Parts: sequence; C-alpha cells; structure tokens
Amino acid sequence: MNRQIICKPLDPNYIEAAVEMAQENYDLETQSVTALGRFDNRAFYQSKIKKLFENGIGRIAFQNNEPVGFLAFNQIFNTGNGIIGATSPLYGYGIRNENRGKVIGHLFQAAAAEICEKYARSLRINVYAHDTEVLNMYIMGAFSMDTTEVVRNTAVKIPSADKNDFIFAELDKTQVLEYRKDVIELYRNLINHLRVSPIFYHCNGFLPIEDRYEDFLSEDMRIFAVFHNNQLVGMIDSEPTDIEFAKTDSKAIGMGDVFIKSNYRGCGLGAALLAFANNGIRESGIDRVFVTHGTINPTARGFWDKYFVNYAYTMTRQIDPEMLGIIKAI
Ligand SMILES: CC(C)(COP(=O)(O)OP(=O)(O)OC[C@H]1O[C@@H](n2cnc3c(N)ncnc32)[C@H](O)[C@@H]1OP(=O)(O)O)[C@@H](O)C(=O)NCCC(=O)NCCS
Repeated sequence: MNRQIICKPLDPNYIEAAVEMAQENYDLETQSVTALGRFDNRAFYQSKIKKLFENGIGRIAFQNNEPVGFLAFNQIFNTGNGIIGATSPLYGYGIRNENRGKVIGHLFQAAAAEICEKYARSLRINVYAHDTEVLNMYIMGAFSMDTTEVVRNTAVKIPSADKNDFIFAELDKTQVLEYRKDVIELYRNLINHLRVSPIFYHCNGFLPIEDRYEDFLSEDMRIFAVFHNNQLVGMIDSEPTDIEFAKTDSKAIGMGDVFIKSNYRGCGLGAALLAFANNGIRESGIDRVFVTHGTINPTARGFWDKYFVNYAYTMTRQIDPEMLGIIKAI
C-alpha cells in the first residue's frame, strides 16, 4: 500500500465524499460530547459543502487514489479596512485516516499556499475540541485559540448552594424597561471587564452600551435575573443560537452574556443564576444550550467551561504581510 498523500484542488466530483467525511467528524465529536446530539444533518452538510466547493479555497487529500481528507476555506474576505483573510468553518474539514495529524498537515500546507498567494493574511480555522491530532498540528503551527464553542444538556443539573436571601426571576419586557438603568449598568461592567487586562477587547462593536440595551427588549431574548434587597445584581440571557448546524434544531438555544455585580461575585451566585436559567429553559422544552466565549477571558473560561463541554475551537494565525503574494525561490 502506497502511504503517500497527494493533495488536489477542490473538485465537485468529491462533494459527496467530503459530506461524508464532515459528518463522520461531527459523529466522532459526539462520542466525547454527548450533549451535541445526533441528527439527520446530511442536508445541512450537503448545502454548506457544495457552497464551499463552488466558492471557497481548499484541498482534497488522496491516498491510493481514495479521498482521505479535505480542508476548505470560505471565499477570501476583505473587511475594507485592510484585513484580508479566510475562514474554515467547522464543517470545512474531514479526515478518514488513522493518521489525522499528518493528513491535516498536508492539506493545510497546500491550501495555505494558495490563500497566501491571494494576499489573505488573517487565517481562522474551526476545529473540533477532541480532535487532538488536528488541534496539535495547528497549535504547533503557530495558531492560537481565540474562541470556543461549548454545549450543555439541560437535563444535567447545575450544582448550586441555596441562596435564600436572593430572588431569582425571569424578566418580562415591562420589567426590562423598568430596570433599564440597572441593566445598562450591569452591561457596562461587563464591557469594562472585557476591556481591561488580561483581555484587552476594545468592544467598540458593542458601543454605545445603550444600543445593546435595545437587544434585551427583543421578544427572542429571555432574561433571567437575580435580585438582592430589591436591587438587580445579576443577569443572564438566552436567545436563538447562532451556531449554524443547530439553527434548525427546535430543542437548541444559545446563551449570551452573564454578569454578576462585582461585589457579589465569587460566592456561588453566578452558578445559582445559571441553574435557575437552565431550569427555566429546560421547562420550555429545550434540550441543548450553546455558548461561544473568548478563550482569552479567564473568567468566562472558568465559568462556562465548568458547566458546559467544549466541542470546538476557533484558531487564528496572522501571516507576515511580507510573505503574501507569490513567494519566489531565492
Ligand atoms: C462570570 C461571573 C458571572 C461568575 O459569577 P460568580 O457569582 O462570581 O460565580 P460563582 O461564584 O458562582 O462561581 C462559579 C464557578 O465559576 C468559575 N469562576 C467564577 N469566577 C471566576 C474567575 N474570576 N476566574 C475563573 N473562574 C471563575 C469557577 O469555576 C466557579 O466555581 P468554583 O467557585 O467552584 O471554582 C462573574 O464573575 C462576572 O460577572 N464576571 C464578569 C463578566 C464575565 O466575565 N462574564 C463572562 C463572559 S460573558
């Protein structure tokens, strides 16, 4: 058997093979993360991968003329302010080979050459959290983690101490209006927390804070709150998930922000609020909750990752601008 791996450009004849490999990848992750659930998601993969093959950049790996893997990036993006890049979504790779690290290494080498020839500097790649060989290949290749996607099964209880001095409630929109000032203040604290060391997100996209407040009034968003002495001291929100493969799953929802007033932190209130929200969500027939958070935020990591399971990471790498375009041998 010839062990040589040969990479070729994306070819529509192999869309079905890629769909199968992407599905196998997902199924592999569900073995470690049962909360993800198993669905008939073939139509999702077919439509997404067809688009990737039509408009994207990537490679298919062959061994003995059989496809053993693929890696695909969406069409190169240009934000207009000088950032040109390419993103490989979570459904943008699949490997059918015992040597996953080696196959992804070959695929990335070939795909990255073309991406850099097209002056794309900012690379983003989504990888399953338990795909360790693939993850290692990127980490060793100077990629670093940026965000993670986590999920929990709402049937799993969140351990939390009784908080009898506190009142937990789901707010209706009249109450969100009534507590406008407090909601904005809590949200301001969150943004400030994200702006300072060690996170350093500028959060300009979330400013002015008053505009974000309007989102809390949306009918899609549920707000779970905790009060102490009639004062709002914490909030957590849920809204339809923006995780692509879960959008059509009527039993899935997303959670966005969580914040506890700073002088109330560290004594189990966040956990108690999450437990309250989890129960409320469970009672309305939701089985799965998804959260995306920045791995750069140690508090978010400590909090979300304690109660949820990581199933994906977004890895990023900036290529030296001097190396973009066609590099000629010297
Ligand atoms: C995250 C936050 C809501 C947690 O609320 P809290 O009441 O302090 O949390 P709890 O006391 O219930 O802690 C529950 C678990 O969260 C984790 N956690 C809480 N604070 C943490 C911190 N500063 N660093 C790391 N992990 C932390 C721990 O795993 C903790 O369990 P443990 O005490 O058994 O170790 C609160 O710290 C906060 O509002 N932080 C600022 C905003 C933020 O970072 N939000 C997350 C991003 S959206």
